[in-house]
Amino acid sequence: MIGSSNGVGVSITGLGAHVPERVMTNDELSTMMDTSDEWIMERTGIRERRIAAPEEALSDLALPAAKESLEDAGVAAADLDLVIVATVTPDMAFPATGAILADQLGAENAAAYDLSAGCTGFMYAVAQAYGMLAGGLGQRALVVGGDILSRILDWSDRSTAVLFGDGVGAVVLERVAEGGFLGFELGADGSGGQQLYLLAGGSRTPATAESVAERLHFVQMNGREVFKFATRVLVSSAEAVLAECGRTIDDVDVYVPHQANVRIIEYATEKLGIPEDKVVIDVDRYGNTSSGSIPLALADAKREGRLQPGRLVLMTGMGAGLTWGSGLIEWTDGGRG
Ligand code: ACO
Repeated sequence: MIGSSNGVGVSITGLGAHVPERVMTNDELSTMMDTSDEWIMERTGIRERRIAAPEEALSDLALPAAKESLEDAGVAAADLDLVIVATVTPDMAFPATGAILADQLGAENAAAYDLSAGCTGFMYAVAQAYGMLAGGLGQRALVVGGDILSRILDWSDRSTAVLFGDGVGAVVLERVAEGGFLGFELGADGSGGQQLYLLAGGSRTPATAESVAERLHFVQMNGREVFKFATRVLVSSAEAVLAECGRTIDDVDVYVPHQANVRIIEYATEKLGIPEDKVVIDVDRYGNTSSGSIPLALADAKREGRLQPGRLVLMTGMGAGLTWGSGLIEWTDGGRG
């Protein structure tokens, strides 16, 4: 799916983020499994990640991020028309964490649900919220992206356990008079689904004593294949959305790629021809937080003063599905339309 704005301005007017307090370093990981800081840094650029406390569920991390984004936008929860939580680790299968969060926020006038598109979930959710607001279904949406991947990692599998972390980001989307999203490109290739999956707990393989004993409730990944896929789509999706919106890579001021691995980001950045100083990287501090990755990076960029009104921001996510998605936005300073 690809398209550019139909002339109705919709922008991100508020940003929030929340990560668990507990920091897990590579050195700590190397006391738990056969790995090392040197290996992890060289292959991924990840130095440390955050791990949720045992009693924390996704909505517990989402609530402070959502509140911060609403405050940043100056929007009351009761004025939200839509709440989407993009995640693969909801509090439970149902009710949706979106509905749980909407209730906790007091967003009593909002439709609320979860969206599952792997690490691309946040980009899919933003595009969906954009479409609903641009189409006139509502005025204000809250999009939360985040995961507690530590709950679905096999801590005896060094090839996946070292890559991921927990965290949540949130954005408020509103109609604006000028600027905002210029377009999106989203895609999926289900034939690659077996490269990154979690088998048990659904209708195909329900939870049983055997499924637990066989460790089927944990993430399985073919790292090399995902690496190839990631480097390919980060480039092709970015180029597609830029072309669709009549912009070039030189027009981009800030590039926010999915934070999976510094090597993947460096490869894409070089292929696209984006100077290093335009790239936002925080995977070194958070690891891969799945749907939390892009909004956490946006929040970091904002804190550093990099998201000024008028700047062109390119975001691309990719992940399980396999899926990918890009969005191009001319940053605005709030400004209700
Ligand atoms: N510590 C030490 N050694 C390790 C570790 C570890 N944590 N993990 C694997 N190894 C070993 C392997 O066993 C292998 O040893 P062998 O040669 O004796 O068999 C060796 O290191 C090399 O393994 P490779 O898998 O070939 O290593 P590679 O260079 O491909 O790097 C990595 C692995 C980092 C996983 C890389 O493939 C990658 O980044 N892939 C993309 C993963 C990703 O980003 N996934 C998420 C994207 S989608 C989403 O966000 C959900």
